[in-house]
Amino acid sequence: MTAQILDGRALSTALQAGFADEITSAVATGLRPPGLAVIQVGEDPASSVYVANKRKTCEKIGMYSVSKDLKADISQAELNALVDEYNADPSIDGILVQLPLPAHLSAAEIIERIHPDKDVDGFHPENIGKLAIRQPALRPCTPFGVMKLLQTAKLDLYGMEAVVVGASNIVGRPMALELLLAGATVTITHRFTRDLEAHVRRADLLVVAAGKPGLVRGDWIKPGAIVVDVGIHRQEDGSLCGDVDFAAAAERAAWITPVPGGVGPMTIAMLMHNTVQSWRERVA
Ligand code: GUN
Repeated sequence: MTAQILDGRALSTALQAGFADEITSAVATGLRPPGLAVIQVGEDPASSVYVANKRKTCEKIGMYSVSKDLKADISQAELNALVDEYNADPSIDGILVQLPLPAHLSAAEIIERIHPDKDVDGFHPENIGKLAIRQPALRPCTPFGVMKLLQTAKLDLYGMEAVVVGASNIVGRPMALELLLAGATVTITHRFTRDLEAHVRRADLLVVAAGKPGLVRGDWIKPGAIVVDVGIHRQEDGSLCGDVDFAAAAERAAWITPVPGGVGPMTIAMLMHNTVQSWRERVA
């Protein structure tokens, strides 16, 4: 292997230690800790793992968290009412509704219901709009975590050919906005893209968030490229893999994120970052 590892686990741990120190000092002076409300609807197994991790991290860094596990058949009106309650709760700085939601509920409606100042996922149209016009406020956690990882490795993206694979609201689209903000020339590919391989081959920086194990072959990677893999999949033998063939890609890339231990931990770190940011503005 020739690529250097972008170690999201180590950076996430370091960032969390910083937040823990800040919270401990603030609480010692009599301030309330940051508060995060984490809402899960139903029992999607992957969501349960993510939500448990988020709650555990809150506890570890001294953040106040409230957890709501709602039945899959809750109505939109009931879910809206719960969000309204947290919008009005002065001990809560961030509200997160884990996605995806059951089919009878509207994610768009609930995302707009969360007050933009408490939207620590950064999904509200106001926050996405601010990112698009170069005035970022609360930024989507996964793309923001990728940027933090690249900045920490001192990788300057100005002028780079960046290719994003996947155009979801949660990762691909805001990722492209972040990369544009950082001065890259950005291409977004998606399920209707005709020749994915040709786009990947041109990429100085490749971010893959397609949700398809092994979609990107190692021999597609441009020699010396930076490869960021957002995918995470459980294989039959129980191990985890990403959307990129890691072993083969690492032979050609200059930098690469591992799965696990790359982007995943950074998403949680940036959720904590956003909640602390929201709290700072509220307690100031
Ligand atoms: N589902 C997958 N990723 C995320 C995320 O970052 N936030 C929320 N709320 N749901 C998700």
